[in-house]
Amino acid sequence: MILKDRVAIVTGAGSGIGRGGAEILAREGAIVIVADLSSERSDETALIITKAGGRAEARPTDVTDEGALAKLIADTHAAHGRIDILHSHAGIQVEGSLEEVSAKGLDQSYQLNVRAHFVAAKLVVPHMKGQGGGSIVITSSNSGVFLDKGMLAYITTKAAVIMMVKQIALDYAKFNIRCNALCPGWVDTPFNAPYMRQMGGRAELEKYVADTIPMGRWASIEEIAESILYLASDRSSFMTGHALVIDGGECIA
Ligand SMILES: NC(=O)c1ccc[n+]([C@@H]2O[C@H](COP(=O)([O-])OP(=O)(O)OC[C@H]3O[C@@H](n4cnc5c(N)ncnc54)[C@H](O)[C@@H]3O)[C@@H](O)[C@H]2O)c1
Repeated sequence: MILKDRVAIVTGAGSGIGRGGAEILAREGAIVIVADLSSERSDETALIITKAGGRAEARPTDVTDEGALAKLIADTHAAHGRIDILHSHAGIQVEGSLEEVSAKGLDQSYQLNVRAHFVAAKLVVPHMKGQGGGSIVITSSNSGVFLDKGMLAYITTKAAVIMMVKQIALDYAKFNIRCNALCPGWVDTPFNAPYMRQMGGRAELEKYVADTIPMGRWASIEEIAESILYLASDRSSFMTGHALVIDGGECIA
């Protein structure tokens, strides 16, 4: 086990990629704090982990609420004495081009896709400094490294957070705190509902994935979870400020 007794907080861990990441971290020995907006889904993920023999605690949290995030991080540190890994994962997709996205849609995107990551990282860094290091993984998207049609708020915020990750990495490398961005391509989770709407339905989305991704398919959650484990663990011990793209070749097509 490569994460034995490490303490990991995973936001948005109640579904999809966040849950897959929480599961793999726990399988490698980490104590995982499952922080999802939904208390039901937080409980479900924690149960899946504990049933499989891992250690997890459900801590339902709305990461856009600064006070709730502060409490999550303070309570985790008080209970476990350290925070080794932060996977700040929860995000939002607001579809539309410049004329279609409202200013409110852009603000909502910023709030979750940039500001919540900023607050979470800001709150864990003092603990990581005090204990001699840690790994921060922030979920961006392959949409943060290229342009896409009609997803202005998503592309803008996912690109912004990659620059934030690089700046955190630069400023905190001397404290042995690494910070990297996770940039998945298409993964079949409920998250893609706005994109599916924009494209015109499930069949159109399936066709898009088959035709556009060089590997001709979706990524599985497990394939992305492997990269989360890599970034969170010492396997990537000399890697910081990187945007790791896992997208079946979409960004090079
Ligand atoms: N699925 C994809 O194709 C894909 C591709 C690239 C990047 N991403 C990124 O992955 C993340 C979404 O993950 P997913 O695809 O597994 O989605 P998902 O819809 O399966 O799960 C998202 C989870 O985040 C939680 N959440 C939403 N708002 C929250 C909040 N304010 N506080 C705490 N939790 C909240 C939801 O309750 C849900 O359980 C986003 O950051 C997204 O940009 C997804």
